[in-house]
Amino acid sequence: MDRANACLPDPMETASLDELRQHQLDRLRWSLKHAYENVPLYRQRFDEQGVHPSDIQSLDDLAKFPFTTKSDLRDNYPYGMFAVPMDKVVRLHASSGTTGKPTVVGYTQNDIDTWANVVARSIRAAGGRPGDKIHVAYGYGLFTGGLGAHYGAERLGCTVIPMSGGQTEKQVQLIRDFQPDIIMVTPSYMLNIADELERQGVDPHKLALRLGIFGAEPWTGQLRGTLEERLGIQAMDIYGLSEVMGPGVAMECADSKGGPTIWEDHFYPEIIDPNTGEVLPDGQMGELVFTSLSKEALPMIRYRTRDLTRLLPGTGRAMRRIDKITGRSDDMLIIRGVNVFPTQIEEQVLKVKQLSSAYEIHVYRNGNLDSLDVRVELKPEYEHLGESERNTVVRELGHHIKSHIGISTRIDIVPAFSIKRSEGKASRVVDKRQAAA
Ligand code: DLL
Repeated sequence: MDRANACLPDPMETASLDELRQHQLDRLRWSLKHAYENVPLYRQRFDEQGVHPSDIQSLDDLAKFPFTTKSDLRDNYPYGMFAVPMDKVVRLHASSGTTGKPTVVGYTQNDIDTWANVVARSIRAAGGRPGDKIHVAYGYGLFTGGLGAHYGAERLGCTVIPMSGGQTEKQVQLIRDFQPDIIMVTPSYMLNIADELERQGVDPHKLALRLGIFGAEPWTGQLRGTLEERLGIQAMDIYGLSEVMGPGVAMECADSKGGPTIWEDHFYPEIIDPNTGEVLPDGQMGELVFTSLSKEALPMIRYRTRDLTRLLPGTGRAMRRIDKITGRSDDMLIIRGVNVFPTQIEEQVLKVKQLSSAYEIHVYRNGNLDSLDVRVELKPEYEHLGESERNTVVRELGHHIKSHIGISTRIDIVPAFSIKRSEGKASRVVDKRQAAA
């Protein structure tokens, strides 16, 4: 895509379903062959499973191929899964992960180009246009958020403000002075910036900001409402992961807003039963799996994302959508037999009008059972509430959690701003189980 054409949809976006499926089949054959011929791990796994890239007669045949996981990348750290010589790799990114070695991903110049194109497409689909000023507050560096957003925004013909994460006071100063039209940031850090705007006495509704492109972590429809209302913007969901590319694997479109559209011409999705690995029909909840269709440096065949969602039919395009991600299977808590995701707690907290959007979940072990406490803060305008009114707020939240999630929790109202604010991906769960074990 060149700059002059940046505001027009890519031809693949307007392709019919038949055209899209044919394109995917051609690309899939190429991608499997590329992986098989150039990555020893894929060759070994395919051989063990008795499958060969030439077995692909239809897209459904992909189900015969083995999965790839994050541990495969870790076990082949740093470059063992690259499919091109290092002199063709123009960029590396890495995710730190909580344990062990980071996951390293690499890009050829063509990969960087594809990535810039899908992010440009994402920003345009969300309502961005050439000439818009975009404040990028995703972290720059090894994390894919900052540079991914940056290249896409430039490709679309926007003016990029490469602020990166952190320095919240300065974020606000630049938003006041430079008057960006669009902000790209994690939703949790946006809340932090919104608090700072308020602290500095800025009315966000008077800023030029009209669109927020939020992702890199799970967030709820309730939080969308809060952000749109507080900031007077449209809040759109961008999804992606480093292993598959970075931001821009899927993007919510201004015309539908009902879950991100997967850029299926580059990333082929499947939903599987996380326990059996069986492919599930569209519409059923399960684990999202991606196969890259065009990536050169690091082809990903049936990569298990751990993200839980379902595939929804396309709206304006033949490409399908994903439902908002409930959470990662790794983030699921099991509280007295009930599966709980932090986003479910967020949904309930945001229903209580006296509570701020900051919350923290503390998980404990009592004997063999896990239990959780929820820490919340009052909005500054409710800080004056007395004990009995605070108890009413606690009871209201407890009731919502009990009736919607099915668990009883201890709820503590803690002093304003005592919950740690996010400057990137929020960590909402404080796990006290390890310490107690
Ligand atoms: O977070 C890429 C990204 C950057 C996406 C900026 C969007 C915006 P990783 O650090 O590899 O890459 O983390 C990927 O983050 O598997 C999901 O669990 C989660 N995630 C990303 N976007 C969303 C979203 C980037 N919109 C992991 N909703 C993924 C829910 C998301 N979860």
